[in-house]
Amino acid sequence: MPDNDPNVLRHRLGAAAGQQARSEARDVRVVAFTLNGESVQVAAPAHWTLLEALRYRLGLIGTKQGCDKGDCGACTVRVDGEAVLSCLTLAVMAAGRRVETVEGLGVGRPHPLQRAFDDCGAAQCGFCTPGMLMSAAAMLDQARAAGRTLSRMEIAAGLGGNLCRCTGYVRILDAVEQAQRELGGGGER
Ligand code: FES
Ligand code: FES
Repeated sequence: MPDNDPNVLRHRLGAAAGQQARSEARDVRVVAFTLNGESVQVAAPAHWTLLEALRYRLGLIGTKQGCDKGDCGACTVRVDGEAVLSCLTLAVMAAGRRVETVEGLGVGRPHPLQRAFDDCGAAQCGFCTPGMLMSAAAMLDQARAAGRTLSRMEIAAGLGGNLCRCTGYVRILDAVEQAQRELGGGGER
């Protein structure tokens, strides 16, 4: 049978897919970490990102999959308090760490940032919002720990890696400033 016969090509494609599935099954790792205050274990291929593990194994779809290459910030979560791009972080790197997603922000009642986004109309389509919230939460916590109140320019710089195609950013900055006032900044500028 010639190499370009459709049956030969189908057979080869099927064999390649089977080989890939077998190799992925061999490479599965179990990773244990703390997720929004709960201990979790997740089994995922070693090359999977934290974003994939959160969305496609743990069902937490609040963390958005935008560019998948570090450009948009929609996938931002916190790892040990730091804002991290989960599309550029391997799931295995979360082992033993404390991971927080938007689902863990404001459990029981909305976090001041969530209330401020609502008050200020800072979310339109909402796709960027979970990443914005997690970046802003990390930034405000770090400023408070350092005893500082962030200026509007500093907030804008801190959110520079989070892109929004809807709001024009003004209302997002208003909201983060409002939340900072409510949370109580450190005072020094
Ligand atoms: S999805 Fe991670 S930066 Fe865009
Ligand atoms: S609200 Fe639509 S991308 Fe920001």
